[in-house]
Amino acid sequence: MHLMETYRRLPVRFVGGEGVYLYDDKGKRYLDLLAGVAVNSLGYADPELVEALCAQARNLLHISNLFENPWQEELAKELISSFWTSGRVFFCNSGAEANEGAIKLARRYFYERGEKRYRIITFYNSFHGRTFGAMSATAQEKIQRGFEPLLEGFDYAELNNFDSVIKALKKDTAGILLEVVQGEGGIREAGADFLHKVQELCRKEGILLMLDEVQTGVGRTGRFYAYEHFGLEPDVVTLAKGLGGGVPIGALLAREEVAQAFKPGSHGSTFGGNPLACASALVVVKKVKGILPQIERVGSYFKDRLRELGVGEVRGKGLMLGLELSQGCEGIVIRALEKGLLINCTSERVLRFVPPLIIEERHIDEAINILKEILY
Ligand SMILES: Cc1ncc(COP(=O)(O)O)c(C=O)c1O
Repeated sequence: MHLMETYRRLPVRFVGGEGVYLYDDKGKRYLDLLAGVAVNSLGYADPELVEALCAQARNLLHISNLFENPWQEELAKELISSFWTSGRVFFCNSGAEANEGAIKLARRYFYERGEKRYRIITFYNSFHGRTFGAMSATAQEKIQRGFEPLLEGFDYAELNNFDSVIKALKKDTAGILLEVVQGEGGIREAGADFLHKVQELCRKEGILLMLDEVQTGVGRTGRFYAYEHFGLEPDVVTLAKGLGGGVPIGALLAREEVAQAFKPGSHGSTFGGNPLACASALVVVKKVKGILPQIERVGSYFKDRLRELGVGEVRGKGLMLGLELSQGCEGIVIRALEKGLLINCTSERVLRFVPPLIIEERHIDEAINILKEILY
């Protein structure tokens, strides 16, 4: 009664978790294929993560960004060592914030070069967050309705329709921002040919290729960054969600020359990259790098098993999968919950599966058996 009604909450109260399972206040066990919406990369109560967090909490939770922060340095080094080129990182607290940072960086980059470019091309069905810049970038009427006037400077195109990108291009376009696999928009994949054409266009026009890897990044698709599936070379990448394994942290990565546009005072955050968040993300990043082949293997097993169900189109990569049904899927989510399976419905008809990255084939079998009971 004291909370704003921004969420339609399901009638379940979780009190604990271990591995890929959650437990409610009545002791019932749930197999979790949602992972806090692609956040709990290592599942629940991972001993190494818990230990690192407890040790960090005993030592130092927070210092200001006015001081040296070796935890940020170490985490940035890990993120950049998997990035396609040399670059730098800015830490914040969420996906929306990372994208706000990306929008600001793009504007500042062209300002520093003395070029009047500030517009960004984004895509229908995308999702970049709820703050003003990120919401204005999110080309979905239902997200933006009632909040106008939006931030000026976004032009919308259709994913996998290169002509629509050309149409959206203006003389003051600064960059193109997209998700390699649209998450909230219903697990819709950008095609390799489309992505390469977009990258070529960015190079030809001298504008920035900016990838929102908030949901796809940090191993979710079986590669550390989803763009690696296509051999892309983005100028800017944003991360959040799975990066902290449940502790809020976001990151903005940019290749060296672009990152130089931010000077002391250009951008900042009180909490961004504090020692607790970095300690958590360091454990996550190192562990995820070690299980990428497993993520790819289990993901492809999961995809095959979903296809076998024969109830709709299966899309996605690694452990970011969607099953498009012919009818709305909210009811299926409730029935799955009753049967001890946590799944999610996005874009009205798409069942979304973004389990902890540590999930194994035997858990997939367990989930498929429950899904069969519901869908057949
Ligand atoms: C691709 C993408 N970008 C940005 C966001 C926003 O992240 P946050 O909710 O942490 O602000 C999300 C959240 O679902 C997302 O999926």
